[in-house]
Order: sequence, then structure tokens, then C-alpha cells
Amino acid sequence: MEIVYYAAASLDSFIATPDGGIDWLPPIEADGEDYGYHDFYASVDAVLMGSATYEKILRHAAWPYAGKPCWVFTRQRRYAKSNDANIQFTAASPDHIAEELEGQGLKRAWLVGGGKLAASFRERGLITTYGIGIVPTILGAGIPLLDARGLLEQLTLTGCQTYPDGTVMLWYRKAA
Ligand SMILES: NC(=O)c1ccc[n+]([C@@H]2O[C@H](COP(=O)([O-])OP(=O)(O)OC[C@H]3O[C@@H](n4cnc5c(N)ncnc54)[C@H](OP(=O)(O)O)[C@@H]3O)[C@@H](O)[C@H]2O)c1
Repeated sequence: MEIVYYAAASLDSFIATPDGGIDWLPPIEADGEDYGYHDFYASVDAVLMGSATYEKILRHAAWPYAGKPCWVFTRQRRYAKSNDANIQFTAASPDHIAEELEGQGLKRAWLVGGGKLAASFRERGLITTYGIGIVPTILGAGIPLLDARGLLEQLTLTGCQTYPDGTVMLWYRKAA
């Protein structure tokens, strides 16, 4: 089972401003530059996110992952059940959900973020692949790409693509 943390970050490694703002990210265009997003999205069969990311998505857009099974990690009881049969709220641990996905025959999951949930997966050794778009912006402060947790980890660069706007897409695999 592959778990891919695919996100966009500033050069100083933030995924959002301190108040969660993401307006500084270049837009993913349906007919123009998408930074490989649509191919990546087609390659995943599940979506994982923390409750803060879920709330942010709900505030700003129609649900963008319709039809893909999605697990939203939260320990808050107010999220008992979603109206969307594809969205499950869970208070289970990342290990437990990774096993559940594998048990369901799912092969590749997109860990959308944010940095808190990604750190929980990373510290358990569950992230197999990183696809990080570095945007040519320095925020100075914000929500980190990965909350500081866990042990040192070596990665292997498997891909790198530059875009005319200065964004660089980096692909890493967890070293064996
Ligand atoms: N630039 C990008 O590509 C990108 C990607 C994703 C997100 N974002 C941005 O990042 C921000 C949110 O990131 P974030 O790091 O603050 O939050 P997050 O990781 O999205 O959500 C964290 C919350 O998830 C819940 N949770 C449940 N189980 C957890 C576990 N095992 N480990 C960690 N959290 C768990 C906790 O809340 P409760 O239990 O209280 O519900 C926790 O506070 C948003 O502004 C979003 O827009 C940007």
C-alpha cells in the first residue's frame, strides 16, 4: 500500500499562513497548468485528511473528491456521520486506517494533509512517497508541512520537475 503525502509548500516549508490561508498558492487550472495534479489524482484510490484541512475545504469549495473514498481524522464527536457515503470520520490511529485500506484492496492513498496528520503518519513510518510542490514564496510563518515529530528519515529523490512560474515539483520515496 502506497501512502503519498502530496502537497504544496512555501520555500520555508509552510503549507498555509498562520490563519490557514492558501491564497498564495498558484491555482490548479482545468485547461492550463495543473502541475501534474489531474494525473496524480487519477492515480489514487483513497483520500486522507485531518479535520482542519477538511474544514478548510468545506469553507472554500464544493467537495472536490466526490466519488473517492475519504477518511477524515478527528477525535471530535460532533462529526459522527457524514451525509456523503464516501466520507468517513475516524478517531482511529493512522496504523489502523492504513491496515483498513489495505484490507479493502486499496493500493494508493493520497494523504492530503495537513502537517499535523502528515506528521502522525510519518512518525509511524507510514508515508511511502512524498510529492511536494515548492512554490517560490517565503511566508515567514505558517502551518508547517510536517509538524516536528518522529525520527530522522532518509529519502530517495525519484522525480523533479520545474515549471515556468518557478514552482518545483519534487518526488521522494522513503529509502529502503
Ligand atoms: N498547501 C497544501 O498543499 C495544503 C494541504 C493540506 C492542507 N493545507 C492547509 O493546512 C491547514 C491544516 O493543517 P493542520 O496541520 O493545521 O491540520 P490537519 O492535519 O489538517 O488536521 C489536524 C487535526 O486533525 C485531527 N486529528 C485526528 N487524528 C489525528 C492524528 N492522528 N494526528 C493528527 N491530527 C489528528 C485533530 O483535530 P480534532 O481531533 O480536534 O478534530 C487535529 O487537530 C489548512 O489551512 C489547510 O488549508 C494545505
